[in-house]
Amino acid sequence: MSILLTGGAGFIGSHTAVELINAGYDVVIADNLSNSNKKVIDRIEKITGKRPKFYEIDVAIKEELYKVFDENNIEGAIHFAGFKCVPESTKIPLKYYRNNLDTTLSLLEVMKEYNCNAIVFSSSATVYGDKNPVPFKEDMPVGGATNAYGSTKLMIENILTDVVKASDGFSAVMLRYFNPIGAHPSGLIGEAPDGIPNNLMPYVTQTAIGVRDHLIIYGEDYNTHDGTGVRDYIHVVDLARGHVAAIKYATEHLGIEAINLGTGNGNSVWDVVHAFEKANNVKIPTAIGNRRPGDIDECYASVDKAAKLLNWHAELTLEDMCKDSWNWQRNNPKGYED
Ligand code: UD1
Repeated sequence: MSILLTGGAGFIGSHTAVELINAGYDVVIADNLSNSNKKVIDRIEKITGKRPKFYEIDVAIKEELYKVFDENNIEGAIHFAGFKCVPESTKIPLKYYRNNLDTTLSLLEVMKEYNCNAIVFSSSATVYGDKNPVPFKEDMPVGGATNAYGSTKLMIENILTDVVKASDGFSAVMLRYFNPIGAHPSGLIGEAPDGIPNNLMPYVTQTAIGVRDHLIIYGEDYNTHDGTGVRDYIHVVDLARGHVAAIKYATEHLGIEAINLGTGNGNSVWDVVHAFEKANNVKIPTAIGNRRPGDIDECYASVDKAAKLLNWHAELTLEDMCKDSWNWQRNNPKGYED
């Protein structure tokens, strides 16, 4: 029995592949490498001693997925495949709707044809919008996404809800990620953004290594302890282990659940910068800039549901996240490029 990871060569997918293999699962990765690199497969093998099966396919194309399901006994799927760049999604929304919805619809149709009844979906804390008080709880109203990326996450949550309601025996876990950072402690896999990073940690590591001049802090006038935005940063290895627990849950329980994967702690931009400088003994030049449109004051998770249903909680610290992010960046200054 195997677990299919769509988009499994990406940042979160590759770490999840490692943790699944460590937990004894057979892993099949389907990825079109649109935002990832084939070397990831070698690196997963190097870390675990086991090579995941790899299909370079577009998950939106059902004929290609049929081959994967014909050649493997897929017990469940973890669906990572999708575009994730927020600013790009506001500029080219159709690209996001087309890709993120098509990959999901094709996967779900093929799963049903093959009687594969358990799916875990990569959702996001972005579904909570900007109206809910922190900590965000899974039973709070969702909606109000300010960009097409966030809208696709909401739409896919709705699609899964309808599919589970209509089908006997189908189960789904929608994992609402907070802010995944860090990297595998081996330094062999990590986040490799294409071009200028949008997210905080890759920008910090690229500044530390000298690729970027300085970090611009997007606003120091938020309603937080030091004026900078507060987020729930979670180590990607903890996040990956949450997926192992979630796919087990989905294969053993019927129905649908939305579950937060975060630490439950809020850290500001300054907290992250200072933790990074301290953990790694490096200096991050900074400048204060304007607020980034769409950013909210605070975003952190209620983690009770993950503890209760998945028997999972995050274990690694902000210091671990900073050390492992830097270790990855230093060992791979150009990401997976030579
Ligand atoms: C962003 C997305 C969110 C997506 C998530 C995926 C936006 C508005 N939100 O979340 O929809 O699910 O990435 O990982 O894009 N910051 C700086 N300087 C920088 C970069 C970031 O000060 O160069 C600050 C931000 O203002 C924010 C914090 O760092 O307060 C974290 O930013 P980021 O890593 O982009 O994550 P989110 O905004 O939480």
